[in-house]
Amino acid sequence: MRRESWIRSLLGPSIDALRRLGARLSPAERRRRKRHAHVGPPGMWEMKRDFQIAFLRKAGLQPGHRLVDIGCGTLRGGLPLIRYLEPGHYVGVEAREEALTEARRELEENGLTDKDATLVHGSDLTQLNLPMQFDYAWAFSVLFHMPDDVLEGCIGFVARHLRPGGVFYANVHVGERKSRKWKQFPVVWRSMDFYRSLAIRHGMSVEDIGSLAEVGHDSGRPSHDEQRMLKFNRPAA
Ligand SMILES: C[S@@+](CC[C@H](N)C(=O)[O-])C[C@H]1O[C@@H](n2cnc3c(N)ncnc32)[C@H](O)[C@@H]1O
Repeated sequence: MRRESWIRSLLGPSIDALRRLGARLSPAERRRRKRHAHVGPPGMWEMKRDFQIAFLRKAGLQPGHRLVDIGCGTLRGGLPLIRYLEPGHYVGVEAREEALTEARRELEENGLTDKDATLVHGSDLTQLNLPMQFDYAWAFSVLFHMPDDVLEGCIGFVARHLRPGGVFYANVHVGERKSRKWKQFPVVWRSMDFYRSLAIRHGMSVEDIGSLAEVGHDSGRPSHDEQRMLKFNRPAA
């Protein structure tokens, strides 16, 4: 059997079902899925949106706090955070202009333009200096897409911008696995010792507070739920 017909005999029914589903979607729904695919599997978009605000509120986030969302993408997590925080208290930083274009559309479509969110385009965080400090920094599914030098710049940025006593939460892959690709980014596994040394170099400490599943993330996909949630602390002055 030729390779294509062998694949088709295995996947044919599901390919046809997917085509039928695609044909049934409204243009608005197709646009929504396309937008959601910028930041991961569209079928998990809502769960990952709801997880982010639920986690941060449990971690003590209050409307009067200031938060920087590193790698904010299209505002999957950002939308409920912007709605919750006081105007002007959310800053998103994102490397891809096309993701930010969709983020700005999300703000308009969700009636959030008056919340005065700041969206910054940039990938080299060593160069970024914002005129404010933050109570919380957040990077959901971002650090494992950064090469080591970019990550170093990111942690330096966090250390410069967290107020004394501020915290930075980020999920990562801990362990040893061959790096793979997601869009133009790598997907990297690192050891906990790597993160400890990184934090110390920037005057912070870091602890592993549990798997994503243990902190309320329920995707049903072990490769997602087994990621670890890290908490970096900037010491109080
Ligand atoms: C998996 S997506 C997650 C997006 C968002 N945090 C969310 O939960 O929807 C990872 C995001 O990190 C962004 N990113 C990767 N490297 C970055 C960097 N060096 N600076 C800023 N953003 C970066 C990507 O462009 C992408 O939008």
